[in-house]
Amino acid sequence: MTVAVYHPLEETTRWWVDALTELLPGWQVAAMDEIADPARVDYAVVWRPRPGALARCPNLRAIVSIGAGIDHVLADPALPRGVPIIRTVGRDLTQRMREYVALHVLRHHRDMPRQLQAQRERDWHAVVVPVAPRRSVGVMGLGNLGAAAARTLAGLGFATRGWARTQKSLDGVEVFAGPDRLDAFLDGCEILVNLLPLTRDTSGILDARLFGRLAEGACVINCARGAHLVDADLFAALDSGRIKQATLDVFHEEPLPADSPFWDHPAITVTPHIASRIDAATGGKLIAANLREFERTGSCPDLADAARGY
Ligand code: NAP
Ligand code: GLV
Repeated sequence: MTVAVYHPLEETTRWWVDALTELLPGWQVAAMDEIADPARVDYAVVWRPRPGALARCPNLRAIVSIGAGIDHVLADPALPRGVPIIRTVGRDLTQRMREYVALHVLRHHRDMPRQLQAQRERDWHAVVVPVAPRRSVGVMGLGNLGAAAARTLAGLGFATRGWARTQKSLDGVEVFAGPDRLDAFLDGCEILVNLLPLTRDTSGILDARLFGRLAEGACVINCARGAHLVDADLFAALDSGRIKQATLDVFHEEPLPADSPFWDHPAITVTPHIASRIDAATGGKLIAANLREFERTGSCPDLADAARGY
């Protein structure tokens, strides 16, 4: 079997090639750009593949996304139709996202930016907030990551609600399903966490209309994809005070350009797409296990549904 690896950073491609070579004895693993005959490629392991590159591999059996999202694969207009796409998920990814969401929800809940400002001013100013059960927190997307994040927030005592496409039951979480229930989910929500996949239906969902449904002075945490957010609507909502603070891990353009107004907005916390990354130690094992399983059975548990978009 031949596995072609592509990551926009050459050293990261190298890392995956070395890791998968060790984990898949007997398989040929190489950087996509170094494979002279694309007809030899059985599997492609990719992050943000170059448009058209996968279409040049006529015998591709499956595409592996180095990540939970598959939007970066589906974004290729020449993507060969019908080739299965395998996500890379797993316990480390979920654990990291739970940590990130808990950290930033608690930060907004306890109004740490205000408390830190008081410290800078040597002002003994006590910021007192309601206890968590009186704080309404909402998670958009209740999949692998969103469900884990919602459970974590419920475990911390927050009045937790979640929104998904289909109805489900999660202990301690009030679940709303489908577009008809979006407004009910948003109404009065004080801290909103976005963990939706980027699809036709969810692109630009974090817009002025949505901000208008949240509680006055709500906080927003986007740790899914930059294209979920209408940037201008967030700036306007922050300027008007409708939204008090935002934490953004993902952006339309990454790396975030040096002249982006996000960097120095006083009400925005920027993190460089680090909410949850595939762990170097376990990511390779997950991908190798999925490839072996797919090669043996023609399927594996982490198959995405390309028609659905996630
Ligand atoms: P997932 O398991 O595929 O779950 C997606 C969830 O979103 C599901 O609950 C699904 O509903 C819901 N959903 C999809 N379309 C919807 C719609 N139109 N309306 C309402 N709900 C909808 O995804 P995941 O593994 O949790 O990952 C979510 C996203 O996080 C990824 O796609 C990726 O973009 C992002 N991510 C970011 C980072 C980071 O470091 N910032 C790391 C990893 C992933 P159903 O359950 O009803 O199908
Ligand atoms: C990261 O953004 C992922 O999709 O895993």
